[in-house]
Amino acid sequence: MTFMLFIYCLYTIFILFFPSLIIFTVAETSFITQYQSLSYGNTIVSPHGIFELGFFNLGNPNKIYLGIWYKNVPLKDVVWVANGGSPIKASSILKLNRYGNLVLTYNNKVVWCTSSSETVQNPVAELLDSGNLVIRDENRTKAYTYLWQSFDYPSNTMLPGMQIGWNLKRSLSTHLIAWKSDDDPTPGDLSWGIILHPYPEICIMKGTKKYYRLGPWNGLRFSGRPLMKLNDPSNNYEFVSNKEEVYYRWSLKQTSLISRVVLNQTTKERRRYVLSKKSWTL
Ligand SMILES: *[C@@H]1O[C@H](CO)[C@@H](O)[C@H](O)[C@H]1NC(C)=O
Ligand SMILES: *[C@@H]1O[C@H](CO)[C@@H](O)[C@H](O)[C@H]1NC(C)=O
Repeated sequence: MTFMLFIYCLYTIFILFFPSLIIFTVAETSFITQYQSLSYGNTIVSPHGIFELGFFNLGNPNKIYLGIWYKNVPLKDVVWVANGGSPIKASSILKLNRYGNLVLTYNNKVVWCTSSSETVQNPVAELLDSGNLVIRDENRTKAYTYLWQSFDYPSNTMLPGMQIGWNLKRSLSTHLIAWKSDDDPTPGDLSWGIILHPYPEICIMKGTKKYYRLGPWNGLRFSGRPLMKLNDPSNNYEFVSNKEEVYYRWSLKQTSLISRVVLNQTTKERRRYVLSKKSWTL
């Protein structure tokens, strides 16, 4: 009895003096709910432990970024950055507000936030095994119900399942933007996406100029790129063009493969990496 009382007292003291620890700690989970926040050192992990979301630096501890990386790849390669152009300090906090937006603050100033399409009763943010960070209603899991998704706002990396192109209804262009350099995720001047006129065309752009183009989609493949085989044994390529959207998507036939495409500011090219035996091969 005395022991129970002792434990209870300890617990009460803990709650009284360290309420922030309880509110701000996220155990290994793939979610951030309205009542939780994520601070430096804490992460969320996708359900099967493939991707992790949290804060990282690229060598300079005073330049911290919010991002997503592979959890079980030794180099923890970053596949998405929220605040590439505006690094923060360790005391920053990521919260999901009641309007269903993730808000990253430093010294009470908003450094980055999402733009959810509507408000819902119980918003949650979840990191999926595809590497997509989505905001949705707690009880709605279908992709079309997402209020916001990081796949719409890529960094320099295309992951399988991501759509590069245009959501015409929302006038939203989804394209890759190269990092300035390997240790600086500030958006560079090189981007890769779809230009709509006069035909949808996949291009690497340098600033506003076409740098390299794949050519228009001829129904089977991009005409400028004969190597892109239709009956590729390990990849599916898809191009969709209708009144609402125009996009290019790539997915893997073997879901056990880990692969990514990175737009590189230095070499001015897109490179496909495949993970094999714990290291990336081109
Ligand atoms: C959402 O799901 C939870 C658990 O399944 C349930 O308790 C809750 O009532 C649901 N909320 C709504 C708004 O349907
Ligand atoms: C870009 O290419 C250079 C040269 O091969 C390489 O050192 C660098 O790591 C690449 N950067 C990215 C972001 O892939």
